[in-house]
Amino acid sequence: MKNESSYIGIFDSGIGGLTVARSVFRLMPNENIIYFGDTAHLPYGTKSDKQIREYAVNDVTFLQNFDIKALVIACNTADSVARETLEEKFHLPIFGVIEPASQRAAKITRNGRIGIMATKATVNSRAYDRMIRKYNPDAQIFSLACPLLVPLVENGRYQKDDPVVKLVLSEYLEELKKEDVDTIVLGCTHYPLLEEAVRSLVPELSVISSSEAAARSLKAGLEAEGLLKETSGSIRRYYVSDDAEHFRENALIFVGDQLGGEVEQVTV
Ligand code: DGL
Repeated sequence: MKNESSYIGIFDSGIGGLTVARSVFRLMPNENIIYFGDTAHLPYGTKSDKQIREYAVNDVTFLQNFDIKALVIACNTADSVARETLEEKFHLPIFGVIEPASQRAAKITRNGRIGIMATKATVNSRAYDRMIRKYNPDAQIFSLACPLLVPLVENGRYQKDDPVVKLVLSEYLEELKKEDVDTIVLGCTHYPLLEEAVRSLVPELSVISSSEAAARSLKAGLEAEGLLKETSGSIRRYYVSDDAEHFRENALIFVGDQLGGEVEQVTV
């Protein structure tokens, strides 16, 4: 049921989900947003599946303190490992990141060879392999865990001319280039912050942001369910489980004025 004062709840382990939120702001500027970044438990991608599920359940339990009309798992790791658990436990329209990005990759690859950059947990879950093959059964998928990227982004290091960023990304991208992929999926919501850097290192490849694809599919889903907000003006609220100031500073560099709301630390 539509309620003009209800929120879209978005969560991630940290700042990565803001790449989805930023696309949501652009595509649906009137929507009210509650964002939760579980920064006390970051990174998720190196944790066990059991631990990731527990964190994801806590994140959504927190978001349920608000009037949430839809939930966005703005975290590939949680979407790959905890999606079923969340669907069983919470009765809300749930949107993720893996399916929209997979659908797009399956469609745009020309040689059928797709590289996935993601966290260790996402790679181990093989969620992208399954989902891409659903849309393109002949596709060959090459997944690479890139554990150094989340700490870089969380520390504000994602500019394309940063020598450390270039060095780390080059090493990862070399691995995927060896497999002759023509398409790369940034399969962690932190990685779209590095999109410019990636594009400048591999201009010949198609680069898909799981965040942008997710926001588009969220819009289509809300439209189909009659859940899009119609009145103008939006409320944006941000919560984190650790240092709010660190998050705010990093978030401001990334989204600037669009942040449009305070960041508060909470215990979940
Ligand atoms: N941004 C998340 C993802 O999309 C999680 C990264 C992490 O905490 O390891 O996978």
